[in-house]
Amino acid sequence: MKTALITGATDGVGRVVAKRLAADGWRVLAHGRSDERGQSLAKETGATFLKADLASLAEVRRLAEAVKQETGALQLLINNAGIGSVGDKPGRRESADGHELRFAVNYLAGFLLTHLLLPLLKAGAPARIVNVSSAGQQAIDFDDVMLTQGYSGVRAYCQSKLAQILFTVDLGEELKGSGITANCLHPSTYMDTTMVRQSGNRPISSVETGADAIMQLAVSPRVDGKSGLYFNVLNESRANAQAYDAKARARLRRLSRELVRL
Ligand SMILES: NC(=O)c1ccc[n+]([C@@H]2O[C@H](COP(=O)([O-])OP(=O)(O)OC[C@H]3O[C@@H](n4cnc5c(N)ncnc54)[C@H](OP(=O)(O)O)[C@@H]3O)[C@@H](O)[C@H]2O)c1
Repeated sequence: MKTALITGATDGVGRVVAKRLAADGWRVLAHGRSDERGQSLAKETGATFLKADLASLAEVRRLAEAVKQETGALQLLINNAGIGSVGDKPGRRESADGHELRFAVNYLAGFLLTHLLLPLLKAGAPARIVNVSSAGQQAIDFDDVMLTQGYSGVRAYCQSKLAQILFTVDLGEELKGSGITANCLHPSTYMDTTMVRQSGNRPISSVETGADAIMQLAVSPRVDGKSGLYFNVLNESRANAQAYDAKARARLRRLSRELVRL
């Protein structure tokens, strides 16, 4: 039986993807923060619920350990958990480690989790990594990555989403020949989810559309062998220019390794 880990599986599009994978016969490790939503998903689908607050790098490490207790091999990792531009409290906030919160939860947590789980993905190869990013992207200002000046929730969100894309392009190169592919995507625009409702935007697409796009990268033979790419919903697309700037990627990689102490 193939095993998948999906983060942010307790709500929104992640929950739909977790249900679809379970219905397709996958063993699903479903990560989230809310006990109530996690337990109800586990009951509904047979998924194993793994709880962790990704706003703490120690919890990310604990999550990776919990995954290792559950399985020796992974065929799929979907880094989907995220906070939107508004979240449950407006304004600049920091993670338990003192990093700007959206950078920490939306990007850095997935960066660390992926590295910690690479041995399991190698053991499960052929395996896929899917990073759920967004069309909302803003170039990272390396002089102020933690956004201490000119903060806005939209900027924080868009910077964190582009960081995921830079990371995916890197993974595509680093994992060549390993049997693991990595791609990222904008799942759909303003799906009807908690983060969109919190932002005050009117939902204009369904979680099913976003789930279709994530499932394509997760399981479709159409993307067999493709790696390091950005998809706009179902189609391969170009991300913000910074994603293709090797110096920017090297800088982000160095910084991220330092911040997560890899
Ligand atoms: N909605 C859209 O239109 C849209 C557009 C482009 C990209 N995206 C991306 O799609 C992904 C899913 O978004 P969504 O709209 O489905 O969001 P959502 O309904 O708000 O769900 C977010 C998920 O992330 C989890 N999460 C949030 N903060 C967390 C933390 N600190 N630690 C652990 N888990 C945390 C939540 O867990 P709990 O519920 O258990 O707290 C939940 O499962 C995100 O990466 C988002 O950026 C969404």
